[in-house]
Amino acid sequence: MTDDRARVTTPAEEPGVVLDVRDAVRHYALRRRSLREPRRSVHAVDGVSIQLRSGRTLGIVGESGCGKSTLGRLITGLETPTTGSVKVGADGTPAAVASGSGTVQAVFQDPASALDPRMRVRESIGEALGRVGKDERERRVGEALAAVGLTSEFGSRYPHELSGGQQQRVCIARAIVDEPDLILLDEAVSSLDASLQAQILDLLERLQRETGTAYVFISHDLRAVRQVSHSVAVMYLGQVVEQAPAEAFDRGLLHPYAVALRSTEPQILDDEADPIERIVLRGEPPSAVNPPAGCRFAPRCPIVDDHCRRIAPDLVEAASDHLVRCHKPGELSLSGVARTGAGMPAEA
Ligand SMILES: Nc1ncnc2c1ncn2[C@@H]1O[C@H](COP(=O)(O)OP(=O)(O)OP(=O)(O)O)[C@@H](O)[C@H]1O
Ligand code: SF4
Ligand SMILES: [Mg+2]
Repeated sequence: MTDDRARVTTPAEEPGVVLDVRDAVRHYALRRRSLREPRRSVHAVDGVSIQLRSGRTLGIVGESGCGKSTLGRLITGLETPTTGSVKVGADGTPAAVASGSGTVQAVFQDPASALDPRMRVRESIGEALGRVGKDERERRVGEALAAVGLTSEFGSRYPHELSGGQQQRVCIARAIVDEPDLILLDEAVSSLDASLQAQILDLLERLQRETGTAYVFISHDLRAVRQVSHSVAVMYLGQVVEQAPAEAFDRGLLHPYAVALRSTEPQILDDEADPIERIVLRGEPPSAVNPPAGCRFAPRCPIVDDHCRRIAPDLVEAASDHLVRCHKPGELSLSGVARTGAGMPAEA
């Protein structure tokens, strides 16, 4: 470690913490068409705090535009927060400083565009190792290939000579080869078919058991997120609205948006013993440029009232490890429409 890096490094406050996001905000200023026009900005990430320990997976789920990838870019240090802090690694290094150091790696949706078409597989993977001797590079690249289930023969291929699933395995091999503390997976299995998805998710779980690497798993697909995550954060318009252990997603969700998201998962619609009503949300999410003053979910919430429209709820601990941002947590449940009777009828 260089002296420069040592100066900006502060030890993580709790042992085992490899990601510490504190009140992170990322706004993008929009260009004004004239000087008289008020300044406006996109509130892509608006006050997110999360912590993750080694060997654990945090899932992040929410519909398109809610800020998942922006949060991912803050975590990988590709962007810096407008305010707040993002620290990664066992020694709590600011993400922007750690970027490129091997502490945090990323795997994205489209493996074909993530791999340089002119590089052989072994060069792509070896590049992530930085400066190491030839023999060590060869050994570690071979180990990474084996870890993702590819024989050494694949090392001499070019990306176009691989299937989509094999390309994504190479991206994962490149992410793990330098033994990072944390890997960000942003829609990493979304473009793969169901059986390949299952293979890659199994592979990630096995690698985590063997190496203790922590994952942040971003997806719009709640089912995939629940399958691999220990804990899941549901985002809505730049904020976490519910964060809970994955088990809570079976029945114990408290936020109306999280409940609605969960209710549309296809495999639970046939659960005849304890039927789940499908909650169909009407309307588009409000713009991240002008979030509503009160609760951001109010324009679409089936149980909204005047208080919700006026006062923004805080994220509070409803139970151990279970956070929710709602004035009426649990009033809309998976077993039916709200206890208050004010819910929205289900639609087939
Ligand atoms: N560089 C940028 N400049 C302006 N606005 C941006 C920029 N990057 C993202 N945004 C906006 O920030 C919001 C969050 O975008 P982000 O890509 O993080 O969403 P996402 O949850 O990853 O969506 P998806 O599921 O479609 O990938 C969106 O409203 C988006 O238009
Ligand atoms: S605060 Fe009100 S509008 Fe917002 S999610 Fe809760 S019940 Fe719905
Ligand atoms: Mg995204």
